[in-house]
Amino acid sequence: MVSIKKAALQCVLAALALPHVAKAMMPIEIHGSRFIKPSYNKANTGEVFFIKGVDYQPGGSSGYSDSSKSDVLSDSDACVRDAYALQQLGVNTIRIYTINPAINHDKCMSIFDAAGIYVIIDVNSPLSNESLNRDDPSSSYNYWYMERVFKVIDAFKNYPNLLGFFSGNEVINDESSAKEDPPYLRAVQRDMKQYIANNANRTIPVGYSAADVVSLRTATWEYFSCNIDGKEDDSKSDFFGLNSYEWCSGTSDWASSGYSDINSTFTNATIPVFFSEYGCNKNTPRTFDEVSEGVFGGLVNTLSGGLIYEYSEEAADYGLVDITDGDLKMEKDYTNLQKQYENVTIANISESDVDNSTVLTCNSKKIKSAYSSFGANFTLPSAPGGVSSLIKYGVNNTNIGKIVSISGKETKYNITWSNGTEVSDVSISINPTYSISTLDTTASLSSSTASSSSSSTASSTTKTSKSKGEAGVAFLPYGSISAAIAVAALALI
Ligand SMILES: *[C@@H]1O[C@H](CO)[C@@H](O)[C@H](O)[C@H]1NC(C)=O
Ligand SMILES: *[C@@H]1O[C@H](CO)[C@@H](O)[C@H](O)[C@H]1NC(C)=O
Ligand SMILES: *[C@@H]1O[C@H](CO)[C@@H](O)[C@H](O)[C@H]1NC(C)=O
Ligand SMILES: *[C@@H]1O[C@H](CO)[C@@H](O)[C@H](O)[C@H]1NC(C)=O
Ligand SMILES: *[C@@H]1O[C@H](CO)[C@@H](O)[C@H](O)[C@H]1NC(C)=O
Ligand SMILES: *[C@@H]1O[C@H](CO)[C@@H](O)[C@H](O)[C@H]1NC(C)=O
Ligand SMILES: *[C@@H]1O[C@H](CO)[C@@H](O)[C@H](O)[C@H]1NC(C)=O
Ligand SMILES: *[C@@H]1O[C@H](CO)[C@@H](O)[C@H](O)[C@H]1NC(C)=O
Ligand SMILES: *[C@@H]1O[C@H](CO)[C@@H](O)[C@H](O)[C@H]1NC(C)=O
Ligand SMILES: *[C@@H]1O[C@H](CO)[C@@H](O)[C@H](O)[C@H]1NC(C)=O
Ligand SMILES: *[C@@H]1O[C@H](CO)[C@@H](O)[C@H](O)[C@H]1NC(C)=O
Repeated sequence: MVSIKKAALQCVLAALALPHVAKAMMPIEIHGSRFIKPSYNKANTGEVFFIKGVDYQPGGSSGYSDSSKSDVLSDSDACVRDAYALQQLGVNTIRIYTINPAINHDKCMSIFDAAGIYVIIDVNSPLSNESLNRDDPSSSYNYWYMERVFKVIDAFKNYPNLLGFFSGNEVINDESSAKEDPPYLRAVQRDMKQYIANNANRTIPVGYSAADVVSLRTATWEYFSCNIDGKEDDSKSDFFGLNSYEWCSGTSDWASSGYSDINSTFTNATIPVFFSEYGCNKNTPRTFDEVSEGVFGGLVNTLSGGLIYEYSEEAADYGLVDITDGDLKMEKDYTNLQKQYENVTIANISESDVDNSTVLTCNSKKIKSAYSSFGANFTLPSAPGGVSSLIKYGVNNTNIGKIVSISGKETKYNITWSNGTEVSDVSISINPTYSISTLDTTASLSSSTASSSSSSTASSTTKTSKSKGEAGVAFLPYGSISAAIAVAALALI
């Protein structure tokens, strides 16, 4: 017979023998108009989270094909390379436009998780049956499209560093799309949110990314952010992304950029709003003054940060880095953005200081007064045949992602700073703010972010520094964190 004590000891030994312990970030939540990063220690309140991000699609969306067994989250060497570069840049969030729901993303998502980077996923691809066709919404809102969207949700729903999903990008971009598409987009969001409610372990935010068309801005915002019947509504956006290229480095300022209009349009926002793309490239190299003077300056009380377009150099010439045969070279834009992110000081706002918001009831007349031909129709199309059964029973995607332990930090690719010096030790650092001694271990062990029910698996997290003062903290390598978690396992007995 095995005594209880001996069983406990075996458990500890098992914990110590674990070569790598899965770690996980805290999933972002929403409170009123703010993103909240919950505290690991349940006794503390969470704090307001600002996106310091970049848009990330090496190869471009047009480089995507269903038959390829690869996408931007399938090559772990590339993900280590980029997690390192993004971490040095000061980034806490990336947006990815196109992924393949059928292939495994565990290593890459775990690498970004370890590096303290949240991910927002667009559920669409440019291929037919894989997005809403703005010129033909009624036939493209179909069973096959929604089935793929649900497969994307299944593939990502269990990653704790998934910040949310974009239901669409710039679908509404002119008069005719503004007339036809709005109810279809809210219908897609309704189906997504119902799917998540029935098939995921946590609430995952869903929102829309609006085009940089100033005349459509207010109507689009009001259409997506309201409750149809005045009650919490599953077709409403949980957050709002705005693509905005109005402020160009060097030649724009607060007064000339239109940022003060953005500030007043969104000043009473009841859900989080952020730039889902920004970084005009009219003048190069870009100095990104709109980061410190705009998004984290005059707009900081209104927006929740933003994503700079875009990480890698593609045809449109917005890259911060050049990637050639997998080797990466930082550009001058990278160094300039790094300086901006270093310069950003954001107040630490406690969740308890965030107001509850009262979401407005949809008002077609008001929306039409902002843009007269806007299709402010709140009688949404019903789900295509078969979709309600997918929502109820799931799409049975067998490719359901999970955080895995990462065996190494090395990458086979070379990384070179913009001054020509090669990076000799590519290592992703983990901020020790949540060292295990400060954790509420019961909370982390039972947390849905832990990757398995094994009692030796604890979750830890990285913490994004929000103030300049924090930038100097010493980082611990992986080994130290694993050791600390093993000690915590001892303490539990
Ligand atoms: C969508 O997929 C279905 C089933 O494979 C096919 O019948 C239909 O033609 C496709 N539609 C388009 C626009 O590709
Ligand atoms: C919920 O999370 C647990 C533990 O990670 C996992 O085993 C289970 O499959 C998840 N449920 C769904 C619906 O994904
Ligand atoms: C915001 O709310 C204030 C106070 O209720 C109101 O005076 C103002 O007009 C509102 N602004 C917008 C753009 O809705
Ligand atoms: C740093 O940020 C402040 C605003 O917070 C801005 O006025 C200043 O120009 C920025 N400095 C640099 C070097 O960008
Ligand atoms: C932007 O709006 C916020 C919230 O209404 C306000 O506090 C702030 O002063 C505005 N910023 C500027 C630069 O006008
Ligand atoms: C913010 O304040 C809370 C509560 O005082 C503290 O636990 C947390 O570490 C602070 N975060 C930062 C980034 O300073
Ligand atoms: C906000 O709403 C929550 C949940 O309904 C409630 O517990 C809390 O007291 C509210 N806070 C304020 C400041 O009204
Ligand atoms: C609103 O959309 C519904 C469902 O798609 C449709 O039946 C109805 O005709 C539309 N109403 C208007 C005024 O266009
Ligand atoms: C998923 O599996 C369940 C249970 O096996 C089954 O009832 C359902 O029809 C399947 N759904 C699809 C879309 O294959
Ligand atoms: C990459 O790094 C290796 C090892 O430092 C070096 O031998 C090789 O020449 C580098 N490749 C490039 C393209 O710089
Ligand atoms: C090049 O830049 C890197 C990163 O800023 C720095 O560590 C390195 O010392 C620089 N090398 C030279 C030769 O200036």
